[in-house]
Amino acid sequence: MVKILVIIVGGPSSNNVDVKLAKILGIKHVKLIYKEFPDGESYIRYPRPEDVKDEDIVIVQSLYKPQSKHIFELLLAIDAAKDFEAKKVISVVPYLAYSRQDKRFLEGEPISVKTLLKTIKNAGTDYFITVDIHKEYSLKHFGEGAYNVTAMGELAKHIKENVKPANPIVLAPDKGALVHARKVAEILGNVDYDYLEKKRDLITGEIEVRPKELTVKNRDVIIVDDIISTGGTVALAATSVRKQGARRVIVGCTHALLVGNAREKLSKAKIDYIVATDTVPSEYSKVTVAPAIAEVLKQILKI
Ligand code: R5P
Repeated sequence: MVKILVIIVGGPSSNNVDVKLAKILGIKHVKLIYKEFPDGESYIRYPRPEDVKDEDIVIVQSLYKPQSKHIFELLLAIDAAKDFEAKKVISVVPYLAYSRQDKRFLEGEPISVKTLLKTIKNAGTDYFITVDIHKEYSLKHFGEGAYNVTAMGELAKHIKENVKPANPIVLAPDKGALVHARKVAEILGNVDYDYLEKKRDLITGEIEVRPKELTVKNRDVIIVDDIISTGGTVALAATSVRKQGARRVIVGCTHALLVGNAREKLSKAKIDYIVATDTVPSEYSKVTVAPAIAEVLKQILKI
């Protein structure tokens, strides 16, 4: 029998994606032993370091809050795997923190996503996989061996089966997210899609967003985005399209960070249905990114 030399390793913030990946691929899985020291420092340990030698090690660690802590735990896991003579290290980071600081918006700022990707690589990562990175071009900072998978296909299938939208239109909150809207529209059966533009209502003075070309009147509107952070973008989009006559408002996003009073904003916006993925734990995480990641792992590991 041929021994498959791959182990899936679950880090402290894997949010169970590691377990799902191991199940899909039918390969060995271990959870890192984790504890926190009284001063807040993280401790991790491979339960059987001798098993790591000459294996391909897939470390799964998502970088949601507390980001810096989760980043450092990932670095510890990568470095230790190298010390234990892993053959290849593949870092699977379902949610990549700092991906929105992908350029210098103001003089003197760092390009944080570059710092992070370079650090993950320099720690000993041979291949890097993430999901719906804010800007795909950021992967160049890792170089060869970096992959971005999209969860939009799975989000679209979930919406199709669970919401059954009528006369749908898919909207991106801005031009940058149009690629996501296009993908979801395609899966829903090549339905209409567009992006929203900010406009000031000349009578009330209120800021609202409107589709660039199309109309939402009497249609089920599906708003899709990579991230819901404070909820402001999606809440404004939802209330605006509702005022413009949308029938139901459905939201699909990959990473539901839901910081601050995001839940309150979303609830006030009276959205009919919200779905997110398991890159970040939340009450909306109804879709798993594991099958999409598994496909890339099959290619890399040739299994
Ligand atoms: C921005 O370009 C992103 O795609 C999201 O639209 C944004 O990060 C969402 O942030 P918030 O929920 O705080 O409005």
